[in-house]
Parts: sequence; C-alpha cells; structure tokens
Amino acid sequence: MICCVGVGPGDLGFLTRRGQELIEGADVVTGFTAVADLVRSLVKPDARVITMGYKDQVERLKEVAHLHRAGSKCVVVFMGDPHFSGFQFLERVEQACEHKVETVPGISSAQILASRCRVCFDETSFITFHRRGDIAAFQKHLVHVLEDNRNAIVIPRPWDFMPAAVANYLMEHGVTPDHPTEVWEHLTQSEAAWKGLLGECRSEFSDMSIMLIRARRSDAATGRDGDGAVGTQIGGQPQ
Ligand SMILES: C[S@@+](CC[C@H](N)C(=O)[O-])C[C@H]1O[C@@H](n2cnc3c(N)ncnc32)[C@H](O)[C@@H]1O
Repeated sequence: MICCVGVGPGDLGFLTRRGQELIEGADVVTGFTAVADLVRSLVKPDARVITMGYKDQVERLKEVAHLHRAGSKCVVVFMGDPHFSGFQFLERVEQACEHKVETVPGISSAQILASRCRVCFDETSFITFHRRGDIAAFQKHLVHVLEDNRNAIVIPRPWDFMPAAVANYLMEHGVTPDHPTEVWEHLTQSEAAWKGLLGECRSEFSDMSIMLIRARRSDAATGRDGDGAVGTQIGGQPQ
C-alpha cells in the first residue's frame, strides 16, 4: 500500500484525523525533509522514515516504491494538500511506483491564507509558480484573473519569481499598482506579514511565502469592500 497524504501547512493542529491515522499506521513514512520532520513524532518506533531533497528525490522514491512492492505500508507526506501545487511531486511518486496512487487531502496554505485574509475562494483564483519549466502561460493567466476583478492567491517561485518580481511583471503587463496586496511568511506561526499596494511590493521574503493580490475594491466582483487596510504591517518588522 502507498498513499500520498497532505499534512497541512506546517502545524500538526492542521493535520486531519485521517492523515494522522495513516501516518501512525505506516511502516514507511517519506517526504521532503522538513515535511517528514513535522510528522516524525507520530511515526511508530519500528517504522522507517526516508527523507529526501530536490536532488535525491527520484532515487529515494525508487527505494520507497521497492518497499511498497515488497508489502510495506508506505505514506508519502506532502506539505499542505497534494493537489495545491504538489502535482510534480505526485507525478514523481507515480513514476517510481509505475501506477496511480491514492491521495488524501490536507489543508493547504492557500486555504489558511484565505481564512486569515478573509477572502472567499468563490471570488479568488489560486495560481502557483512553484513548478519547474515555463511559467509564461500561468503569468498571463494571473493578469487575466486580475483583469476579471478576482482576487489572486499566488505561490511564488523561490528561485526567480518571488513577490517583487510578480508585482513588476503585473505592472509591466498593464495591471494597476493600486491592488491591495499581502505577503505572508510561515502562515501558521503568524510570523512576518506585509500589507500594502502592489506597486509598493519590493521586499524580499523567504521561500515559505504566499501572496494575496486583492481585486481592486471598487471593482470587486461582489462590490463588497475588502477588509485589508492598506499600508499596515502585521507582526515582524516593516519589510
Ligand atoms: C511546492 S508548494 C506546496 C504547497 C502545498 N501543497 C500547499 O497546499 O500549501 C510550496 C510553497 O507553498 C507555500 N507554503 C506552503 N506552506 C506555507 C506556509 N505555512 N506559509 C507560507 N507559505 C507556505 C510556499 O510558497 C512554499 O514555497
């Protein structure tokens, strides 16, 4: 047995009961080091924990697939939810196993952000740039989302498309700089967060950042006011 389990955005308080049961019952728990470390306290003492990084993931997954074929109960842990910006890793798991695997949903960082920022997903599009390969189509899509007066929840790309670059790209493609914007780091720990206007978003943030670009208030699909006071800092130092 092998399944891919979303463990939430970095705090065991957001792990589902189903996810916890699967991890507690597994013979092998595997995933990126930071994610596997998060759930290590739940792993049974005689189970194996196989951690991996970007460079050795293919090799480690082959090892896990071998254990799965030999009859071990294997759980691959995913940050947040596997279906929010997790599909490339999911594909690698399935390539290693040579078959489709079951996924168990978790709470995504996008859902936590929506809750913290009080935006309704019905009026919001989720776009991830955290993927290998060409992102041009996704960049264009983000412009269209804002042109359609929807909010955008954006996962930046750590190596070349972080919040300041996202803001620059949008303004170069005709998006006005007055969209209320927020960048949250380590959401569940309530660490630094920045609020301002898209045109002011020039700071650097860690890889664990997620961005909300609100529809312009007067344009918003519902006509309802957003609740983000512009130019405010929540926690941490001004960025
Ligand atoms: C490969 S994506 C995986 C997203 C994950 N599947 C989810 O549902 O949240 C990893 C990125 O998600 C964002 N992220 C995940 N957890 C986060 C958190 N607790 N705080 C802020 N950003 C987070 C960061 O941008 C991080 O680099």
